[in-house]
Amino acid sequence: MKSETTEVTLIQFKEFGDDRGRLVVVEEGQDIPFEIKRVFYIYGSDNNVVRGKHANRRTEFVLINVAGTSKVRITDRAGNQIVANLNRPHSGIYLPAMVWKEMYDFSPDSVLLVLCSEHYDPNEYIRDYNEFLKVCENGEA
Ligand code: TYD
Repeated sequence: MKSETTEVTLIQFKEFGDDRGRLVVVEEGQDIPFEIKRVFYIYGSDNNVVRGKHANRRTEFVLINVAGTSKVRITDRAGNQIVANLNRPHSGIYLPAMVWKEMYDFSPDSVLLVLCSEHYDPNEYIRDYNEFLKVCENGEA
């Protein structure tokens, strides 16, 4: 199910803490604006590595650095760019479909959890930046 959300948005999750430690709750429909069909996580990336470098025609994502830190640079259809510091296990960033994203500056302990609105389909990935610009211009996706 496609969500109604179209903007990159920071999401704060409920965090509970006591002398036993901390617990963060992430709920579909309440915190996540789409049905979660897939989850993957990225760890063990050196800090000189740039991951992503693609746009997705259909998939929406929420990125959460559940441990350590990383950054994501997001470029939207209009060419607006923002960099988000993913540095809190109790917050995430929502990315709509059709934004160009690059994840980088991974700390050695970084575990980047990614929630997705679609199953994996390599055919909906745009891995060439010029093609991304062309698809945006033509309003194809
Ligand atoms: P890739 O898209 O290159 O990762 P990133 O976006 O972080 O740069 O994916 C790395 C490999 O994992 C690639 O061979 C495709 C595979 N993969 C899946 O099979 N399923 C998935 O859900 C994802 C995200 C990747």
